[in-house]
Amino acid sequence: MADKLIIFDTTLRDGEQSPGASMTKDEKIRIAKQLERLRVDVIEAGFAAASPGDFEAIKAIAGIIKDSTVCSLSRANDRDISRAAEALAPAARKRIHTFIATSPLHMEKKLRMTPDQVFEQAKLAVRFARQFTDDIEFSPEDGSRSDMDFLCRVIEAVINEGARTINFADTVGYGVPELYGNMIKTLRERIPNSDKAIWSVHCHNDLGMAVANSLAGVKIGGARQVECTINGLGERAGNTALEEVVMALKTRKDYFNLELGIDTTQIVPASKLVSQVTGFAVQPNKAVVGANAFAHASGIHQDGVLKARDTYEIMRAEDVGWTANKIVLGKLSGRNAFKQRLEELGIELDSEAEVNAAFARFKELADRKSDIFDEDIIALVSDEQHSHDNEHYRFVSLSQHSETGEKPRAKVVFSMGGEEMVCDGQGNGPVDATVNAIESQAKSGAELLLFSVNAITTGTQSQGEVTMRLSKAGRIVNGVGADPDIVVASAKAYLSALNKLHSKSEKLNPQL
Ligand code: KIV
Ligand code: ZN
Repeated sequence: MADKLIIFDTTLRDGEQSPGASMTKDEKIRIAKQLERLRVDVIEAGFAAASPGDFEAIKAIAGIIKDSTVCSLSRANDRDISRAAEALAPAARKRIHTFIATSPLHMEKKLRMTPDQVFEQAKLAVRFARQFTDDIEFSPEDGSRSDMDFLCRVIEAVINEGARTINFADTVGYGVPELYGNMIKTLRERIPNSDKAIWSVHCHNDLGMAVANSLAGVKIGGARQVECTINGLGERAGNTALEEVVMALKTRKDYFNLELGIDTTQIVPASKLVSQVTGFAVQPNKAVVGANAFAHASGIHQDGVLKARDTYEIMRAEDVGWTANKIVLGKLSGRNAFKQRLEELGIELDSEAEVNAAFARFKELADRKSDIFDEDIIALVSDEQHSHDNEHYRFVSLSQHSETGEKPRAKVVFSMGGEEMVCDGQGNGPVDATVNAIESQAKSGAELLLFSVNAITTGTQSQGEVTMRLSKAGRIVNGVGADPDIVVASAKAYLSALNKLHSKSEKLNPQL
């Protein structure tokens, strides 16, 4: 019988550590529900001690999710672990994930601790966490740059204390597949009680090898848990991409021979949701979830696929949840049809008032755009939640003028703290003029780090989805806005980013 491979999703924790990807409680709940539909085994919902917001989000997710284990990260100290346990209290199945750095560099320069102190702290942390649950995961942070003898000592001790999962972290993406896989194999061979724990891989993508390293950890090292994120979201170059690892294991079952519990048809919806919530666009040539992943442009390929699909396709688009762009609703669709479509898309709004608000926005959109696609509905709900969560700035209306040879001008009306502002601006282009207009009143002084526009669906009728990444006083936030008019989408994205800066929620990064 094939072994089962556990899929541990950390989009809501490690994914959220990417600059600007921080999510509100409601956004996290939406993603957690989608991860449950995807049937991931473990959802790492956050780092409870990071902030009150993270704590509340984990607690809410723990109370809602029934089919996946809910996990919180915690550093190896009693306070963090107690916070994690408290947030996880409502969970049907819970896991505490505790970690401490084991590499000489991290111990000396970051922790300023001796190896003996780290050894003791790791043991005590697992012992303390065992009071709250049997399901304890331990990670030696920067494991791939740690000394093997020291790792053997620490891991043997934490397994003796009751750690059930050992997650071998390639924190800085330094691993090379064969070496990383062999490190796990050697550790499992050398540590006498290694069979009492499930071994896990956790890889970062700094050298573009996160998926390859994870698969080597599974194949060579015998790991039976992979930690990953949707779209490979994560610090710096990101984490192992869930969709790539899952489809590699499934498509090459002949080689890996492992069972997965994942419902792969939920992969593309999960990818779109994470991208829309975080404002991190998916590159078109991204494996599995990129817009071109199943597009055959060359005549030879098209011909081949028409004659026999498997000439050039190793996976079926529908198996990962791609559906042809379908017109699902239009101007004449009623509230019931809209509500039913929300349900089919797995979008649960909290109250009838929220359904009404979303329906009003849908009607507005349908007046301006004849065909409404699923992607439009998802964007509309995301947009509604962005403004709903943080209401300090709210877009009202915009007019702009641009003509060849003239400097574009924009007039923007928005509310700030409930007061309506009317402002004008000029700029290089209409978007620049719009941002200048908003700044003339908002005076945030934030620095714009990124501006990107994507079409949500195909055709010139498509809504544009804009991401604006702002930085101020060391904080980085992403704002997202969608509208058929990309200048309006830009204004909404800018205001959404200002709202996030305004919310001032400070978060602790576990790895600092
Ligand atoms: O990359 C890392 O080391 C981590 C640990 C907390 C597991 O994310
Ligand atoms: Zn990580």
